Amino acid sequence: MKPDNYHTLLERLEEFEEYEGHSRKSKRHQSFRPHKPKRLSDNDQKFVRTQGDSVGNFHFTYQAARFEEGWLLDSLGYFYEQRWISDVLRKVKGGKEASVYLCRSGEQVDAPLVAAKVYRPRMLRNLRDDHIYREGRIVLDEDGHEVHDVQMLHAIITRTNFGEQVRHQSWITHEFTTLQTLYEEGADVPRPYEMAHNAILMGYLGDETLAAPTLNEIDLDAGEAEPLFDRLLHNIDLMLGKERVHGDLSAYNVLYWDGDIALIDFPQVVSPHGNRNAYAIFERDITRLCEYFIGQGLSLHPRRLAADLWTAHGYRLTPEIHPSLLETDER
Ligand SMILES: Nc1ncnc2c1ncn2[C@@H]1O[C@H](COP(=O)(O)OP(=O)(O)O)[C@@H](O)[C@H]1O
Ligand SMILES: [Mg+2]
Repeated sequence: MKPDNYHTLLERLEEFEEYEGHSRKSKRHQSFRPHKPKRLSDNDQKFVRTQGDSVGNFHFTYQAARFEEGWLLDSLGYFYEQRWISDVLRKVKGGKEASVYLCRSGEQVDAPLVAAKVYRPRMLRNLRDDHIYREGRIVLDEDGHEVHDVQMLHAIITRTNFGEQVRHQSWITHEFTTLQTLYEEGADVPRPYEMAHNAILMGYLGDETLAAPTLNEIDLDAGEAEPLFDRLLHNIDLMLGKERVHGDLSAYNVLYWDGDIALIDFPQVVSPHGNRNAYAIFERDITRLCEYFIGQGLSLHPRRLAADLWTAHGYRLTPEIHPSLLETDER
């Protein structure tokens, strides 16, 4: 095994074990307490229990390692109990902050397969510079409501354990509520179904054996690059209209399936208004996306494109916001 892989593996083991240590109380055969208030009435809940959908009966096809299994039961148990999913089939990808699993849908979903994005317990540790994204952004709780509680906000600033939990939750909620807003707007994003304390459930792109690749993994056919790029610009335009800048946009966060695309991975979205770095972040998004499409044969001017999209929405573009505008004659 290569040393790099070895260290990644060790780190993962450590993560899961640390997580297991935290969650020993919620082991599989003890009663499961979802971290999210149930939406079903008492009667409905009794019905669900008698149907045998308690998490104690949740046995999935995916052969998870022992520590991963505990983590999945805790993260996805709520979806199982509420019949959003009936099985976990396999891991689609272990990303840097989260792993995505292919699940068989439960009765609540009218598509056969769904994707569950489960956040890693330690994902915040990888996000030391998250203040750049958090600036001007409200803190959201797990029901999508803004957190006003002064003690909670203080806990975040002073980085107590509890504060870190609230921050972690806010990150996930921003991803889910952004998916909801953009999906309602008709943007090309996976359909959002439900959120739990550590995971979001959304539409899956791909089929049972093959998940949709991300753009960086494929070369487009001749003639395909231009309409796809226009489609992406349309989506970016919709996002700006809803006051959202992706913040981590690149060919790595666009899925491609059968000529269709879907933008994914929104936890770091920033507001074009409240964040001093918003334009720089936006321009970086456009530049990274253009890099891929230039590689696919298009001739593009990312900085000009970014500035035009930005100002078309009435957002300010001044040398104070973006000093490098003064230095360039690219426009
Ligand atoms: N809805 C989905 N359908 C199919 N695959 C998905 C879906 N969402 C994510 N993936 C896969 O999981 C990977 C990680 O998801 P992503 O949201 O980008 O998280 P990360 O922050 O780990 O990059 C993606 O690169 C993609 O391969
Ligand atoms: Mg990603």
